[in-house]
Amino acid sequence: MCAVLITGGAGYIGSHVNKMLNARGVETVVLDSLVTGHADFLRWGRFVKGDLRDPSALERAFAGPRIHAVLHFASFIAVGESVADPNKYYHNNVAATLNLLDAMVRHEVPGLVFSSSASVYGEPEQELLDEAHPMRPLSPYARSKAMVEQMLADYHRAHGLASCRLRYFNAAGADPDGELGERHEPETHLIPLVLHTALGLRSHISIFGTDYPTPDGTCVRDYIHVHDLAQAHVLALDWLDRGETRAFNLGNGNGHSVREVVDAAREVTGRDIPVQEAARRPGDSPVLVASSKRARTELGWRPAHGDLESIIRSAWDWHRKDCRAPVRS
Ligand code: NAD
Ligand code: UFG
Repeated sequence: MCAVLITGGAGYIGSHVNKMLNARGVETVVLDSLVTGHADFLRWGRFVKGDLRDPSALERAFAGPRIHAVLHFASFIAVGESVADPNKYYHNNVAATLNLLDAMVRHEVPGLVFSSSASVYGEPEQELLDEAHPMRPLSPYARSKAMVEQMLADYHRAHGLASCRLRYFNAAGADPDGELGERHEPETHLIPLVLHTALGLRSHISIFGTDYPTPDGTCVRDYIHVHDLAQAHVLALDWLDRGETRAFNLGNGNGHSVREVVDAAREVTGRDIPVQEAARRPGDSPVLVASSKRARTELGWRPAHGDLESIIRSAWDWHRKDCRAPVRS
């Protein structure tokens, strides 16, 4: 019997994918240090606590059932923090991934699905970004993702390692059953922060930059439901059987400005959400909106929860419950 190894499976996106795979009868092993993950998200599969930077942790993860594919979510994720502390990002996101790839080669694991990011593109040259757009990352975080993508191309050439590089746009929303959702500590992402403001946990939401070359001066992003992202990973695992390496954008193709997100959250929650205009956040791209034509045609991906209000509503259902919970790990 073969299993799938999920690095970072105690985090936001990895835990949703772990749950979906188990629901489909796939055996999973989660490797996570819990540095930013949550023990209460670990309800499915076998758990190995360990850090990818520690080769012995990787050996423990590969010691159980034979692993036939890896889903690699583990990384640090805050764009702003990466600008202030690049060392942290290159160690954890690049050097740790090198350990993982070497362990995969040693254990003859044929393929990996990588959590890449829309931020690899930098400033867009066209309205809808497709995968042929040049990679000009604007932050150490984004560069760490672009570097791993290049490493994957090299490992494919040298060792035949197949890889599906999934460039997520802005993940948001929560598990439709309400068992999982977005919980980053500290939280830096717009939608959860806006909802924390609606809950009265924060006095206001800061708008980072109001002088961007966009219709209302604030940054535009393509928000994608975490459940739709999870579906793409299920398809990507099958795609690995081709033995190739390829990048796929995962977004809805709809851009929403920061102000539009705040307005939509006011509508969904019925609450007051005070805003304060603030300076630009270093490393931010003005607009990131996906063409996901390749994922639709080649993976057969069909995102089902595309509109911003339903994404925010599912996040709101989660945050109302999660922010009230007395014990959180
Ligand atoms: P998250 O912080 O919730 O989850 C990351 C998980 O990885 C955590 O459980 C953490 O404990 C674990 N981890 C980190 N470093 C580790 C290490 N060295 N060894 C073992 N475990 C480690 O993040 P997320 O939002 O679920 O993001 C998952 C992936 O998706 C990341 O690679 C991120 O860069 C990528 N991504 C996220 C978004 C988004 O909008 N959240 C967008 C694009 C790409
Ligand atoms: N923003 C604010 N105020 C806040 C937080 C965010 O105005 O308090 C703005 C940001 O400046 C940005 C937009 O809201 O313009 C979205 O910011 P997020 O932090 O929610 O998301 P990012 O676009 O920075 O990054 C996220 C993930 C990255 C991923 C990227 C892909 O964190 O991992 O999406 O687009 F690479």
